[in-house]
Order: sequence, then structure tokens, then C-alpha cells
Amino acid sequence: MNTPSINKAKIRNKEIVNKINYEIDDKYLNIGKNKTYYIKTYGCQMNERDSENICAMLESIGYSRIDKYEDADFIILNTCAIRENVHNKVFGMLGRIKHLKETKEDVIVGVCGCMSQEEIVVNKIKDKYKWINFVFGTHNLHKLPEIIFNSINNNRQEIDVWSKEGDIVEGIPIHRENKYKAWVNIIYGCDKFCTYCIVPFTRGKERSRDKEDIINEVKELVKEGYKEVTLLGQNVNAYGKDKYDNYNMSNLLNDISKTNIERIKFVTSHPWDFTDDMILEIKNNKNILPYIHLPVQSGSNKILKLMGRRYTKETYLELFNKLKDNIPNCSITTDIIVGFPGETEEDFNETLDLVNECKFDSAYTFIYSPRSGTASSRLIDDISIEEKENRLYKLNEIVNKYAREKMDKTVGNIYKVLVESESNKNGMLMGYTETGKLVNLKGDISLIGKIIDVKIIESRTWSLYGEHIQ
Ligand code: SAH
Ligand code: SF4
Ligand code: F3S
Repeated sequence: MNTPSINKAKIRNKEIVNKINYEIDDKYLNIGKNKTYYIKTYGCQMNERDSENICAMLESIGYSRIDKYEDADFIILNTCAIRENVHNKVFGMLGRIKHLKETKEDVIVGVCGCMSQEEIVVNKIKDKYKWINFVFGTHNLHKLPEIIFNSINNNRQEIDVWSKEGDIVEGIPIHRENKYKAWVNIIYGCDKFCTYCIVPFTRGKERSRDKEDIINEVKELVKEGYKEVTLLGQNVNAYGKDKYDNYNMSNLLNDISKTNIERIKFVTSHPWDFTDDMILEIKNNKNILPYIHLPVQSGSNKILKLMGRRYTKETYLELFNKLKDNIPNCSITTDIIVGFPGETEEDFNETLDLVNECKFDSAYTFIYSPRSGTASSRLIDDISIEEKENRLYKLNEIVNKYAREKMDKTVGNIYKVLVESESNKNGMLMGYTETGKLVNLKGDISLIGKIIDVKIIESRTWSLYGEHIQ
């Protein structure tokens, strides 16, 4: 049994990260023959991307996917640890699965993802959720077939979580969810240690993939007909720093642009190391979309300092304005936390001021949630839940106002839309503009997978309606 340790997960060292290739032993190949699996994914795009690997590994050993957990032979939850409410959702789901297992003993249940990297979660599972068959973490995803095999054959709860990141594993099978848009990992882990954040503990130190592997993956996607890639990392701007002396995120953007994939996006950018060279690449390459997610977290310098964000309101605004000045029609979105320990009414008002100044295209807003093991969890969480909810409400009101304004301004204009699928609105298609705005439109299903010109005729808060311009 390998269980996680927060103290070990904290360690950062200069040890070389090796690259290995995924391999699977023949003895695992029929584990899931004639059996079904159900997967539920919580959290960010990185988890979604991991789930695409999990699905393909399960399918490679015989399982086939179904959408109802009640009917599945195998259930896996790929979890997220970012806030308490996600924890609660996962434990709620485990409660329902326990109920199922009372009548359907044979169902195999596994938990993976970021919650598995948390000491408190694994201890709880060991003590109170003995019926869960196996737990593994973010660093040994590629061992899934072996973990399932051991769990079935040893007939005991199999816990295999590594605290320390392992090698970079290339060649894990993948079953992509979308036929036109693909996620491409470029850097794993995070070394920023923002004081509130659990990610550096659950995802390990920053490890960049080889640039050749990334570029080849994108070239392959172009051949397969993909139109859009989203480059993934907790802080993509740190790309290359752990690996190359003379190759960084702006060089990677340039090289990926040359593959001629039609659309390139990247998430998430930490404002601290967003360079001028990156801005130039976005400006100069038509296929790098004018869409930047730039989390600010707070508009108060005092709170930013307590959060360990390494920038001030002023330097954030400087970067924000530089992006707006250099990249025409650039859309910028953000993340904001309210109710961080010590946040006064005044600090909160500074956040509102910043939102009023930036008028973000949209923002993900959160109530601060203390995470065990992080630096800020030792600060006194001194703001009442009512006050936090009140601040969130006020913030959302203005965030939504600007989001709506941005949507309204699109009416009458023509945008390039990548049509993805039929919409759940009767008989319509849906797709996204270059700045990530959802558009519903009338049109033939033969348009799916194409990038077309669409004139916007109506706007709502979260979606647009348009018509195809031939
Ligand atoms: N790497 C990204 C963030 C990933 S987590 C970045 O730095 O920009 C996504 C968002 O969740 C964060 O931007 C933050 O706004 C929010 N978040 C993270 N930890 C949180 C916590 N403990 N409580 C509330 N929100 C949190
Ligand atoms: Fe968390 Fe900060 Fe890393 Fe983002 S940059 S994942 S908020 S520690
Ligand atoms: Fe959640 Fe882990 Fe992503 S904590 S937000 S799934 S990196």
C-alpha cells in the first residue's frame, strides 16, 4: 500500500525527470472483457484530459462505456480537490454508489485524481470506505490496468498513491471526447504555491513535456482533422523553464502555430510570467486565438500578497492593458476568490473596482475554501459564510453585467464559428467563436466540424444566436 503524504508532496528538487513510454502487459488485456464501465470526472481540463486516457486504457482491456452508473460493472470517479464543495459532491456520489454496492456486490469501484493525493481523503477511505476497491493518484495514472488487476486478484482494498511525481509518460492510449477540439498537455504540475491552493501538492513539481512530443501530437491531430487545440498546464507560461535554456512558451506557440492547426488556445496563464514575446506571438499568428484566461484572484494588493500571487493590482493592469492594446478584439477572462482570510470590505471593494476597470468577458468566481496542508489554511478564516456569500453575489452581479454587455456588442457582427454539434435547442447547431462565445445557429449538419462565418442576430447572457453567411 502506498499512501500520500503532504510533506513529501511539498518537496521540490532538481532531480531529472525521465521520459518513459507506456506499456501494458498482455496479462491485463482481458480484465474487462464483456464488462461495462462508468466514469465521472470532476475539476479542471487537466482532469478531463486524464479521463480521456483512463477511458482508453479501460477500453484497451475490454471494458465498454455506459452512461448509467447503476448498470455498470466498474465505476471510477476522477476527483478534484480544489474546494470543499467538490469534495462534498464526490462523497455524495460515493454514498449513492455504496447504496448500489449493497445490492450489487460485484461492482468494482475506484477513486483517482487530485483527492486521492490528499492524506485526509485516503485516511477516510481506509477507515470508513473499506468497500471502495482501489485508489490511485495523479502520478500513476498509467498503472491503471495493473492496479485493477491487483485489486481483483488480491481481494483487498488496493491503495497506490505516489506522493512524489514520477516520470513523464508518453504514449498512454487516448479516447478523445471531441472530434474537432483536442486538449494537449504541455506542462504538468505547479511550483507557484499560491497560499490557498492544493494543486502543487496534488500534481507535483513543474515538468514540461518534450517540445517534439507536443509538436508531433499537434501535427497528428491536424492529420486526423482536428481544428482546435488547447494547450494545457496549471501555468502554461512556465513551459520549458525546467527543461530548456533557450526555449520557452513563446517559442512553443510559434512552433505550434506553424503546424497550421486552425485554432490554438492555452490555459491557464499566471500573470507573473506572461512575457512580451508571448504577446507578440499571439498578435502575429492568426491561428493563436485572441482569448486569454488570466486569473487575477483579487484586486487588493494586501490580499494578493497574502495569496502569494507575486504581482500587484498595478502590474496586473499593466499586463491587461498591454494585451488589449496589442491584440485586437482580445477577450480576457479571469478567476476571482472572495472571502480570503483578512479580506476587509475595503479589500473586496478594490476587487470590484478592478472588475469595473477590466470589464472581463467573463469570470469564474469562488468563495475561499481552506485546503488542508496549504499555507493559508493556517490563517484564521475570519469572515462569516453570510458575508462571503454576500460578496460573491455582489461580485457576480457586476461580472454578469459586463459579460452581458460583451455579448450584446456582438449583435450585427460576423464571427468565425467552429461548429461542433447539434445544439440542444430544437434543430439548431452549436459552436464557439474565436473568443469562446457559444453560438446557436440554424444550418445543415454537414456544417459540423467546419469553421464558418456567422452573423450574430441575438444575444443572451451566456449564448448568442446567429445565421450562417455563405
Ligand atoms: N493554475 C490556475 C488555477 C487553477 S485552480 C491559475 O493559477 O490561474 C482554478 C481556480 O480555482 C483558481 O484560479 C482560483 O480562483 C480557484 N481556487 C483555487 N484554490 C481555491 C481555494 N482554496 N478556494 C477557493 N477557490 C480556489
Ligand atoms: Fe494553484 Fe497558483 Fe498553481 Fe494556479 S498557479 S495551480 S492557483 S498554486
Ligand atoms: Fe481540481 Fe486537480 Fe484540476 S484539484 S482543479 S482537478 S488539478
